Amino acid sequence: MTVEKACENADWWRDAVVYQIYPRSFADSNGDGIGDLPGICSRVGYLRELGVDAVWLSPFYPSALADGGYDVDDYRDVDPKIGSLADFDQLVAMLHGAGIKVILDIVPNHSSNRHAWFREALASPKGSPARDRYIFRDGLGPDLDQPPSDWQATFGGSAWEPVGDGQFYFHLFAPEQPDWNWDNPEVRADFCKTLRFWADRGVDGFRVDVAFGLAKDFSADPLPSAAELAAIPAGPDHPYYDRDEVDQIYAEWREIFDSYDPPKAAVAEVWVEIPERRARYATSASLGQAFNFDLLRADFRAADFKQIVSENLKSAAKSGSSSTWVLSNHDVVRHASRYGLPLTDPAVPYTGGGQGPTWDRDRRWLLTGGKSPAEDRDLGLRRAKAATLFMLALPGSSYLYQGEELGLPEVAELAAADRQDPTFFRSPGFDTGRDGCRVPLPWSPTGSSLGFGDDGAHLPQPAWFAWFAASAQDGQPGSTLEFYRQAIAARKTLLGADDDTLEWLDSPPDTLHFRRGHWHCFTNFANTPAPIPTGEVVYSSAPPGQTVPAASTLWLVEPTPGEIR
Ligand code: NOJ
Repeated sequence: MTVEKACENADWWRDAVVYQIYPRSFADSNGDGIGDLPGICSRVGYLRELGVDAVWLSPFYPSALADGGYDVDDYRDVDPKIGSLADFDQLVAMLHGAGIKVILDIVPNHSSNRHAWFREALASPKGSPARDRYIFRDGLGPDLDQPPSDWQATFGGSAWEPVGDGQFYFHLFAPEQPDWNWDNPEVRADFCKTLRFWADRGVDGFRVDVAFGLAKDFSADPLPSAAELAAIPAGPDHPYYDRDEVDQIYAEWREIFDSYDPPKAAVAEVWVEIPERRARYATSASLGQAFNFDLLRADFRAADFKQIVSENLKSAAKSGSSSTWVLSNHDVVRHASRYGLPLTDPAVPYTGGGQGPTWDRDRRWLLTGGKSPAEDRDLGLRRAKAATLFMLALPGSSYLYQGEELGLPEVAELAAADRQDPTFFRSPGFDTGRDGCRVPLPWSPTGSSLGFGDDGAHLPQPAWFAWFAASAQDGQPGSTLEFYRQAIAARKTLLGADDDTLEWLDSPPDTLHFRRGHWHCFTNFANTPAPIPTGEVVYSSAPPGQTVPAASTLWLVEPTPGEIR
């Protein structure tokens, strides 16, 4: 073991600030309108200045982009349209050189329909070993032309696709994303090979897509109907959500992760409501950390934020992991816009179940092209900054999504002809999809694609994107970019060694006040100012005067321990 290795902190992920990059929309180096790995290399200085600890790269693998790259043709290569393995190695070296860790998105629930093994399955007969790597079943009816069940795919439409010989294959997402059969030893072995392939190339961790969906049991005959399925809670009795057998898969992965020094980190994407079930993915025998998306689905309300934080800290403590916090990602309406929409009805209590009232409000708002209800951009940004500062003060790791540091709102007005997301095409009139948060970043206020590249952007940037350009915010006091840079830097200096616990303090209605050691965080969720707590203000999302402004967060420190109450 080298001295350098011995000094590396194996627990870096526990309180890391992780920046999610959606590679095809980050920076385009060759002017083809699609972001690429050399483009990311050219912005490593920006990431260093932002001060993030790690970067999570959404998929960059060869893909026909039926689902934004989450349809993978080859797990051990780079899409030639956006780079090469050599570019990848360079990117990792540059990020590491800047002190930034690298987390890769791994997509084990499904491949693409262009994956060599899926092509082989289609070319092979029913009952063949090649078909056993995926989930094929006979159709129903005398002609075997009816799907094995009436289950719906997550993106809409049937979850079963016919292949023309009386069989259907299962796809939880788009038909271009056939689900793997995780009971098949070849599938398991191949994923282990993939994990080692990237781990050997120096990545520091993995974000595991649909981590709760891999294990399946479709042995019931007949399969339950869609209505019956909806009544089965995720867990051991559900045919594909959160089955106990996922534990065995991740135990095998954990052995691989722990064979490296320091061990590779992993974070599970789990949309599982019961905290105890979610905690299983976060133990040191499993992936080690699990996303909770509760803040991302909550409205800007003190009571909801408090409940979510308390529950998730408890759950993290149970698993021995740290909590994760997310306000925006590539799947949801950006939080600067969400918070600018009218609050959902508080009479509908937050239950943590389903997609939730905010998701439904945002979906309906997108269907009107962002016209109704009107978005209050100023309020949205004020609340977004307050929520971000609240999040950055919490114990655990914070995941940021590219562009939120610019205060980017959602692009709600995308034309149907420009849309790419399969949800738009597979649920007509119900869901416009997730393209509005994936529009390429504005790096400068001018140019054909606002500095994203030299020629156009694969999703059109609205004219108003220019107002949010990174270069226009760089060095400007009061800009959102400077706010993020300073917040992340301040967080580093405030993080104490042993202050992983959080203590809630009494505070006026519609405000929250907590402390971690001598560091205090006070958020005013109301639309009116709140009395300012005593203590030395070290950072704030809006300049405080004699009071804490509406929709803002303050960080304070105790001049003498225990002084602020
Ligand atoms: C979750 C990813 O975040 C989302 O973007 C993707 O569409 C699905 N998993 C399917 O891979």
